[in-house]
Amino acid sequence: GPAGCRSISHKREACVGDFTVSMAETALDLRGLPKPLAYETLHQHLTHVLEGVDDEITAMATISSLVHHAFGFLWTGFYRVVVPGRLLRVGPYQGSLGCLEIAYGKGVCGTAAVSRKSILVRDVSQFPGHIACDARACSEIVVPVVDAMGVLRAVLDVDADRVSAFDEDDVRGLLQIVDWFAAPRPALHGPLG
Ligand code: SME
Repeated sequence: GPAGCRSISHKREACVGDFTVSMAETALDLRGLPKPLAYETLHQHLTHVLEGVDDEITAMATISSLVHHAFGFLWTGFYRVVVPGRLLRVGPYQGSLGCLEIAYGKGVCGTAAVSRKSILVRDVSQFPGHIACDARACSEIVVPVVDAMGVLRAVLDVDADRVSAFDEDDVRGLLQIVDWFAAPRPALHGPLG
């Protein structure tokens, strides 16, 4: 029931005949919850799953998977800064084939990279220069991913297959999630993994 969504059971067990087997972490489907509660639950789950992790790509892959399945987005993933001030390249994502590279200033992602600000696009057809990797994309959010030194590492891009799928709750929730990258982690300041 709904109460089960509040207290997440992280380690699951199942019975197979007389045996008890432990199941891997499960991606939660949070579409039945009010958004703020859904994001709070997702954030708790991610914090648990990423405990002890200091690898940026591992975190990007895990965040992509859990965010994508929590809300049933069309596309969820990261564009990484590979040439600061110039070029983003696709990182871990979930969904159909994403563009491989996006220049700073191009599309919603490149615009967010230049401004280092979140961009909420209720209708992508109204955003000049929007890059359509998937023709079904109708609305989009891009949030900047900044490390503990204040350096832009990536942007997180989520796409939905309907107009106005997102609001400020999503922006807030996604910013809280990518705050993982802003925690002090010495290993993060090495070369991009
Ligand atoms: N729509 C993005 C491009 C990335 S794909 O949607 C995955 C943009 O305009 O930057």
